[in-house]
Amino acid sequence: MTASALAAQAPQYVRGLSPYVGGKPIEEVARELGLDPARIVKLASNENPRGPSPRALAAIATAAAELTRYPDGNAFVLKQALAERLGVDPAQVVLGNGSNDVLELVTQAFLRPGDEAVYSEHAFAVYPLATQARGASGVVVPARDYGHDLPAMRAAITSRTRVVFVANPNNPTGTWIAPDVLRAFVASVPADVVVVLDEAYNEYLDADRQAHATRWIGDHPNLVVSRSFSKAYGLAALRVGYGVMDATVADLLNRVRQPFNVNALAQAAALAALADTDYVDESRRINRAGLAQLANGFAALGLTALPSHGNFVLVKVGDAARVNAALLRQGIIVRPVANYGLPEWLRITVGLPEENDRFLAALAVALRA
Ligand SMILES: Cc1ncc(COP(=O)(O)O)c(C=O)c1O
Repeated sequence: MTASALAAQAPQYVRGLSPYVGGKPIEEVARELGLDPARIVKLASNENPRGPSPRALAAIATAAAELTRYPDGNAFVLKQALAERLGVDPAQVVLGNGSNDVLELVTQAFLRPGDEAVYSEHAFAVYPLATQARGASGVVVPARDYGHDLPAMRAAITSRTRVVFVANPNNPTGTWIAPDVLRAFVASVPADVVVVLDEAYNEYLDADRQAHATRWIGDHPNLVVSRSFSKAYGLAALRVGYGVMDATVADLLNRVRQPFNVNALAQAAALAALADTDYVDESRRINRAGLAQLANGFAALGLTALPSHGNFVLVKVGDAARVNAALLRQGIIVRPVANYGLPEWLRITVGLPEENDRFLAALAVALRA
C-alpha cells in the first residue's frame, strides 16, 4: 500500500485539518531573506519580550542534573504550589504541555464525532483544530465588536453541544469580558456542557479585572479554567500550562493525558516562576507601557487599533499581506491574521520599548512602500 493510500484511510476529519501556523521563527526569516538574525525583531507569538526569570533559569540548571530520570508524572510539587496559590485542592489541577494541551485534553475527554463545540468568530485558532481533530463540529458564533457575543453563544448551545470555549482576554482581538458578565454566562450554560475559560493572558490584567474564576468551580463543576506559563511567566519554550476544574473532571483528563506530558525542566522552572511574583508584576508594567507606546504610534500613523487587554494588539493596515511582507524585509516579524477572518489586520505582540520603536518605524516605511 502506498503512503497516500494509507493516508486516505485516516478519518476525513483528520485529513481535512489545516495545521496550526505559528509565528515565523527568527532563524527562518533570516535564512529566507538573507538578514542578520541578531537584527530581527519578533513580535509574532505573544511571547514575553524579557528574558526569563533568573529564578526559573536557576531552577532549570538544578533540574538539569537529573535529566536521566523521568519527570514526576503527577507533578506533585508544582500542583501543590498551584493549588495553594489558587485555594483549590491539588486533585483539581491538571498540568499540560502548554495550556494548549489542556484544551486538547478537554476535547479528547468530552468530544466524539457528531458532537458540537461552540466558540466565537475571531477566537483562538486551537478551538476549531482541537474540535475537528475529534470529529466533532465547531459552531462559530459571529463576534460582536470583535469580542465574544455571549448571549448569542448561549443561544447556539444545543443538545449536541458538549463544550463551549471562551477566551478572556481573547487572542487575537485582545477583547475582555468583565467578571460579573462572565460568571452570569457560566451560570447560564447547561450543567452537562463543559465551559472552557481560557485565561492564557490573565496575568496581564490588572488585579481588579481578573475574574478569579477558579473560585466558581464549586458552584459550576462544568467549568474548566486554563492558564499558561508561556506569557506573563515568560516560559513559552518549555511548554507548561494548567487547568483547574472539579476533581472528577480532572480525573477524566488525567486518564487521556500522556503520563509524562510536562517535562522535568518545565516543572522546576514553572515552580520557580510562580514564586517570582516581582517578575510577573514587572512584565505587566512593561506590557502596559508597551501597549500605550504602540497605541500612540498607531494614532500618529492614523491607524485604527483595537483596545487590547493582552500582550498584543490588532492594528488595521489595509492590505495586511503586503504590509507584512514589507515588514519582513525590514527584519520585523508580526502576525497576519487572515486565518482569523481579519485580512486587513496585523497582530503585534508588545515588545521591549526599543523593539516597539523599531516596529513602528518599519511600519511607517511599509505603509509608504
Ligand atoms: C488564547 C490562548 N490560549 C492558549 C494558548 C496556548 O498557549 P500555551 O500552550 O503556550 O500555554 C495561547 C497561545 O498563544 C492563546 O493565545
